Amino acid sequence: MGADNAGLRVAVIGMGQRSAIARHVAEAAAADPALHAQVVAVADVTVAGRERGRAEYPDALVVDHHRELTGHADAAIVTTPDWTHAEIAIDLLRAGIAVYLEKPLAITVEDADAVLNTAAETGTPLYVGHNFRHAAVVRLMREIVDRGEIGEVKAVWCRHFVGNGGDYYFKDWHADRANVNSLLLQKASHDLDVIHALGGGDTSRVVGMGSLSVYGDVTDRRDRSGELMGDWFSHDNWPPLAQTGLNPVVDVEDVSMVMMTLDNGVQASYEQCHFTPDYWRNYTVIGTEGRLENIGDTGGGVVKVWTHRRGWDTTGDREYPIDGVEDGHADADLLTMTEFLRSVALGEPTELSPIAARAAVAAGALATRSLRNGSVPIDVPRLPAETIAHFTHPTTHPSQTVGS
Ligand SMILES: NC(=O)c1ccc[n+]([C@@H]2O[C@H](COP(=O)([O-])OP(=O)(O)OC[C@H]3O[C@@H](n4cnc5c(N)ncnc54)[C@H](O)[C@@H]3O)[C@@H](O)[C@H]2O)c1
Repeated sequence: MGADNAGLRVAVIGMGQRSAIARHVAEAAAADPALHAQVVAVADVTVAGRERGRAEYPDALVVDHHRELTGHADAAIVTTPDWTHAEIAIDLLRAGIAVYLEKPLAITVEDADAVLNTAAETGTPLYVGHNFRHAAVVRLMREIVDRGEIGEVKAVWCRHFVGNGGDYYFKDWHADRANVNSLLLQKASHDLDVIHALGGGDTSRVVGMGSLSVYGDVTDRRDRSGELMGDWFSHDNWPPLAQTGLNPVVDVEDVSMVMMTLDNGVQASYEQCHFTPDYWRNYTVIGTEGRLENIGDTGGGVVKVWTHRRGWDTTGDREYPIDGVEDGHADADLLTMTEFLRSVALGEPTELSPIAARAAVAAGALATRSLRNGSVPIDVPRLPAETIAHFTHPTTHPSQTVGS
């Protein structure tokens, strides 16, 4: 497999806001002489998307539909809207095209399981882009936990202040349940995944509560087809009730709370609000011998650790600086794309796992079901044993020799 000199032939499916992550293909390949990979094809169902594809990759094949990529690509980066993920991933896996799938893996547990089961049946590599796992703040918190600085973890709390929420999620397809299920899939999947990583287990039982408290009251609506979020984003769009041009359908919750019991007994909670003035997330991890908390979640922030008793004290016993970029997540994105490409081209194992991506979908989707049904507790169903075995004892796929 692989066209002459191209090494790993990569396609980008969905030339929207997030397709920028595919720029890291060239960056990763340039940084590593062993890695031969380049974007050779683009698929987008819209004229505007295909035009963006031609502008970004003038030498690439540009097609309307992902099914036309068979024979032209060895791997595909899927950056289409959430509701399309499962179907596109399953088609690609069946066509033998290795998949980099943007989070969330799917918008229901059933669809997530269908993707994982197809990957297990076909043996085609599947990777889900949970880039936040590679963010410096997450790596730092995990190091503190792993070296036992706060003892054995018993509780993880995450407050998510989604100050950009009005612009990010309420002015296009994200605002409609039919497209995302809820923002506990679209937005929370990063943090639910990181809660699992910090807690050392996956959600086994979940309860949700939440409502559409603010954006449902904004009556100024319009269809923004053809535009991308960068076209309307502004910090001047404030306060939230003064927002204009929301999506015609707004029926996802803008404030929600999730409580989880992990399969190792760790107790966890996640709170998400889309109408705060500030945009960041704040974790607290409490162990048997201390607690940690991040102040800021990018370069310039710190993680503080408290390990002896006292009253109110914001200083902590130790403070660790967070490395990395001060805005956004380009550093984590490069690490994530490099990991995907090396796994497919060179057969290397990955730190990110589709099983973990499914655990994040399960927690978010079932929390959504709970909050829309009287906050009943819901138990997470288990994946088939053969699917778990496939991902926990991976075998090398034929395409994994491409580019090596
Ligand atoms: N990991 C992260 O940090 C991160 C950040 C942003 C977005 N995302 C994910 O990226 C995905 C895309 O988000 P976005 O903000 O780029 O959306 P977007 O609306 O800006 O772009 C989506 C693109 O996909 C195209 N498209 C739609 N259906 C398609 C199909 N069936 N086949 C081919 N193309 C199709 C659209 O025409 C558009 O060009 C989402 O699932 C989102 O969760 C991840």
